[in-house]
Amino acid sequence: KNGGELAGRTVLITAGPTREKIDPVRFLTNHSTGKMGYAIAGEAVKMGARVILVSGPVNLEPPKGAELFKVESAEDMYQAALEHFDEADIMIGTAAVADYRPKYIYEEKMKKKEGDQALELERTRDILFELGQKKNGQVMVGFAAETNDIEIHAKGKLSRKNADMIVANNVKQEGAGFGADTNIVTIYKKDGTAINLPLMSKSEVARNILAEVVQCFKKDESL
Ligand code: C5P
Repeated sequence: KNGGELAGRTVLITAGPTREKIDPVRFLTNHSTGKMGYAIAGEAVKMGARVILVSGPVNLEPPKGAELFKVESAEDMYQAALEHFDEADIMIGTAAVADYRPKYIYEEKMKKKEGDQALELERTRDILFELGQKKNGQVMVGFAAETNDIEIHAKGKLSRKNADMIVANNVKQEGAGFGADTNIVTIYKKDGTAINLPLMSKSEVARNILAEVVQCFKKDESL
């Protein structure tokens, strides 16, 4: 393992969905299964990296050798990722972080009543964005799940989030996105180039992403 291409590197990965509490029995979440993030964690271990996996609630076995930190809310995920950010050489945000959370968490179970019920929401923290502001040498990779104008959105995220790569998938395409064992992605890089990958397993997608990350380090070392 010592000779792996990521030997001596620490990879911080966020994965899975988050849960945003409404009351003691209810929460807001999404369909993320964590498969893409766990696949990257597994491949990074194989390439010799130290892997810190910050994960929302999922039904997956953590890859052997990865350090798992279980979290629920976006705020918890942010705190856990922040805690390990300085140790990381690479940060990969695959988590489907909730964009909004209930503004008030009810201490007791909300009772149903006649008529409609509104739920006031507030923005959560954008983990990738905030860590992008604190970047000091880390190679940062984000994901973009889009249904339209993929290139425009991916390139927007590259600059807004101060990322080195955005891995975009069209979640409307068969074989891409949530829950599937395969994915069809395009990797948009900071230098303006893009790599279109055909339909492949999430492990293969993971290997392709990590190979690009290794290239980033090689480029830096040759300067
Ligand atoms: O802005 P958008 O949610 O489309 O960006 C997706 C990317 O940003 C993913 O890498 C995701 O993990 C990350 N993200 C995050 N915190 C959020 C929202 C998204 O880290 N609150």
